[in-house]
Amino acid sequence: MLIALPILAFALALPYWLPRAVVGLRMWIFARVNGEEGLVLGSDGDTFRRVYSHPAANGRSRGAVLSDIFWYWLSPGPEMHQEHLEPGRRYEAVARTTRAILAMPSSRAETLAAQCASRVLPELGRTRWVRLRDLMMPVWAEFYHEVVFGKPCPPQARDLIVGNANDVVTSLKCCGLRHLDVRLRLTSYLVDSIKAGEIAHALPDGLSTQESAYYLQGAFFNTAIVQMSEAMTHLLLVVAKHPFVLDRLDDDRFVDGLINETLRLYPLFGIAHRITSADIPVDEHTSIPAGSVVCFDYPAYHRLGFTDPDRFDPLRHLPRDAHHIPFGMPANRPCPAWHLAPVTMRAVLRETVRRYRLYSSAAHIRSIPNRGPCLLVPATEVSRGRPWFAMALMRLRDRWEDVSRSLIQLVLGTYMLWDARRLKLCTRYFNDADVV
Ligand code: HEM
Repeated sequence: MLIALPILAFALALPYWLPRAVVGLRMWIFARVNGEEGLVLGSDGDTFRRVYSHPAANGRSRGAVLSDIFWYWLSPGPEMHQEHLEPGRRYEAVARTTRAILAMPSSRAETLAAQCASRVLPELGRTRWVRLRDLMMPVWAEFYHEVVFGKPCPPQARDLIVGNANDVVTSLKCCGLRHLDVRLRLTSYLVDSIKAGEIAHALPDGLSTQESAYYLQGAFFNTAIVQMSEAMTHLLLVVAKHPFVLDRLDDDRFVDGLINETLRLYPLFGIAHRITSADIPVDEHTSIPAGSVVCFDYPAYHRLGFTDPDRFDPLRHLPRDAHHIPFGMPANRPCPAWHLAPVTMRAVLRETVRRYRLYSSAAHIRSIPNRGPCLLVPATEVSRGRPWFAMALMRLRDRWEDVSRSLIQLVLGTYMLWDARRLKLCTRYFNDADVV
């Protein structure tokens, strides 16, 4: 009995300290395997903005050890992924195509997003427990298929797109290993579709069919699906935890403020990096030498200059010069979906709350490795008040999942980092290829 009590106390305390200790250990192992790399900017707003906007902060992959792990996570075809292309002719061709594909009037984007959500979101007969990221992925698969192909998404294509995006984001968060066979099935589908002339837009000049398939897969069926599903998970979790916002969701200006504040507190990028192509002066006496890896810390930057920065406030005023760049630095390869994403999020948010009331007591952190646990109650069901018991169970389950997940992330993350350093996909590409 005497020995059982301390063991029980130790076991019960695990969720409170183990996940944090494992994160610390993971960072330490990552630094050991990856090598200490990168100058991190974020706590000084002026320097952050000046360096990020500087024309010499323009390298994306070549010369950074950490590119090997990004290329590993984004395979197949990371060398065609817009985000990771070096500046040059190929990048220009690809970026022009992305802009053309995403160019559509806001009203059309809003209607299409609402239609896709309405086709995909299940009608519920009773309360259901879901993970918001899993609920959202098919909606965005449907939407971006229609944007790229100009026609509704067949169910088997939706499964391929969701399978691919889910595999990428799960490995990125070190919650699972990558499965190239799952991803290559989507590549084959895209190759066949390009050959059959089924893409509704002109593809980038100078790319082979295979390269064009990798380009579409990277920008539209990895990045777009993952980013939109994660952004919506944050937005819906915020709504679930702050039900007072529900009364104002008909007001576009309020919803835009809600999205801005959500992406300020939970920016999708923790860190973005650049490799400098020339010296960048920081002040009179110091400069960042050419060839440096500079890391831009979004969460730190987003806290600067705001009163009570950790408080969620959807009515927060954002002056023009606010430290708020959820879609990147305007002068340095910002997100091409900058205008489209918020409009479509607004439409999908409204479709979701029209169908369900949302409740969540799970932890809400920037990286949302828990995929946003949530209870959906059909909106038609007469309110029986907040489901306290279900909320207590969700909280308990989420805490304990944190313990097992953080151990899994430690083991799989270390393995993938080692494997990526062994394969050296990016380093070898730039050593071997006559790169355009
Ligand atoms: C709410 C959703 C989204 C957020 C918050 C977001 C955020 C960002 C950010 C911060 C960057 C810049 C990263 C850097 O400086 O390295 C970026 C780049 C990019 N995003 Fe998004 N994104 C979102 C949705 C999308 C969608 C829907 C697409 C669809 C095609 C997309 C495609 C890209 C691409 C291709 C780049 C690289 C741009 C370049 O290097 O030229 N993103 N995104």
